[in-house]
Formats: sequence, structure tokens, C-alpha cells
Amino acid sequence: MLEDAVAASPQIGETEVAETVSALRLRVDGWRQAGHSVALVPTMGFLHRAHMTLIEVARRHCQRVVVSIFVNPKQFGEGEDFALYPRDEADDLAQLRAAGVELAFMPSVGEMYPPGFAATVSISGLTDGLCGASRPGHFDGVSTVVTKLFLQCRPDIAVFGEKDYQQLQTVRRMTRDLDIPVEIVAVPTVREPDGLAISSRNVYLDADQRRRATTIYRVLGDIGARLTEGASVADETARGLAMLREGTAGEVEYLELRDAASLEPIARLVDPARLLTAVQMGATRLIDNRPVDPPAGATPRS
Ligand code: PAF
Repeated sequence: MLEDAVAASPQIGETEVAETVSALRLRVDGWRQAGHSVALVPTMGFLHRAHMTLIEVARRHCQRVVVSIFVNPKQFGEGEDFALYPRDEADDLAQLRAAGVELAFMPSVGEMYPPGFAATVSISGLTDGLCGASRPGHFDGVSTVVTKLFLQCRPDIAVFGEKDYQQLQTVRRMTRDLDIPVEIVAVPTVREPDGLAISSRNVYLDADQRRRATTIYRVLGDIGARLTEGASVADETARGLAMLREGTAGEVEYLELRDAASLEPIARLVDPARLLTAVQMGATRLIDNRPVDPPAGATPRS
């Protein structure tokens, strides 16, 4: 049975490609029977260095690595870049092969969302502000597809980048609330040498935008450090907003200090926090964040 599924799957070098849930399940079940641990790295493809870092982390934790490549229509709103989202399947597979990834799960939209599909996984609270404010339905789309991927693959761990911090916290909460037996492993943001967070969408930036985009990293660092020194949250976020506007020449959607776990707004820095921003530069929306420690001696709320 397992052999049939493998024979039916297209083979690309050492990386097997599963296009159906049943082929994925058969392969993963075979590994489980052999006592192997399994890591899942969910992606939307157009793989770059940051994805490869997630894969390296997955490899350090588990004997078998599955990378899903699926540009999920449910997490793109109307007028967003679903149709234009960069795709390069051949290059993705070459990179997975070079990294020794055992299985690429590359379902079609019809395989993930057959006609009549009617389920939505929605995590309230955490998803309301920040990116959720300007991208209604985005986190429902993410939560729905990630739930499906978890149930389809049933991995021991799943690896996510901290760059999408609100997504990471949403997936953590979803996994906890729904008792999904998977460990979420977070990987710090991978950056270009000048600090820009690596993202598939960076390819859209023209030369001037690319140069200006480095402001984001600098401002997060500067404001974060001042907050840890004890400066006022309101004053520093206002100063940071102005610096971002001037430096990026873009439309700054938000710059906010939030509790690192709950993502609730905070006015006084006493617990570990996260400084998060989203900036629209021309047609390209960039997000970034950094951890912010409370000042030495601050008394935690709990
Ligand atoms: O971060 C991403 O690439 C996507 O949001 C994810 C987690 C693969 C779900 O489509």
C-alpha cells in the first residue's frame, strides 16, 4: 500500500512530491511505523534563505522533514496579491532537494478546498489588531489552512518564523485551544546583511524602496533599545512612527508595543514585549518586529 503511494508520486531527486492528502498520509504513516519523528515546515513556496533556516531547524529536531508549498487563497483579501504572489516550483524543488528534504507536499487548491468546503478556524482577540485590522479574514485563512496541514500531516513539530509574529502567536494559541498534538518551534527572523527581514515580497521593491526599507530594522532597534532603557512607550512609538514615515517614504500602518505572549497593547513596559510594524512601500507591504525586554528592575504584572 505504502509502496503503491510512493510509486504513484512524481519523484524529483531525493525529494518526493505528494500532491494529495492520501499520498502525504501514507508516507508519513510509514515513517511513524518505522519510529521516525516528523517535522512540518509550512510555506507558500518561492523559497529563500529564511525558509531554508526553518528547514535546518526542522532537521535538527526530527528525522523526517515535510515542507508544504501551497499559496493559500483563503489568506489573501480582495485586492491583495494572490494572483501575483511569486511562484517558482522548479527552483523550490531544487532547493528542497539540495537541503535533503524528504517530502514536498504540494496540493492543488481543489485538493485543499474541495467544492462545498465550508469550515473556518477563527482565533479571536489575538488576530483583531495589528495586521488583522487591515487584512480582515487573513488570520482565519491562515488558521484554517494550518489546521488542515496539521491534521493532514500530523507532525511532531511544526516550524514557523518569528517575522510573522502575529501569525506565530495565533498558531500557538490555536494549537493550544484545539488540543492539536504538535509542538510549535519558532525561529528568529532571518535578515539581509543590512537588517532587512527576508521575505518573498522583497523582490517587488525597486532600488530606492529597497534602500529605504532598511529604515524599518534601524527604527525597531533604536526604539526598542530606548524602551528597555525606560523611555515612555507613548513618546517612543510616536517618535518611531515619524522616523519610519520619513525614512521609508511609505505608509506606516502601525508601530505598536504589544505583550509578547498575548499581543495585548501595553502602555508600561514591565513584561517581555514585542515591537511590531507594518509599512506599505508602493505595492509592497513589509512587516517586521523585535523583542523588547522590560527595563532592569521593572516589576512584572503577574
Ligand atoms: O507564513 C506563511 O508562509 C503562510 O502564512 C503559511 C503559514 C504557510 C500558511 O499559508
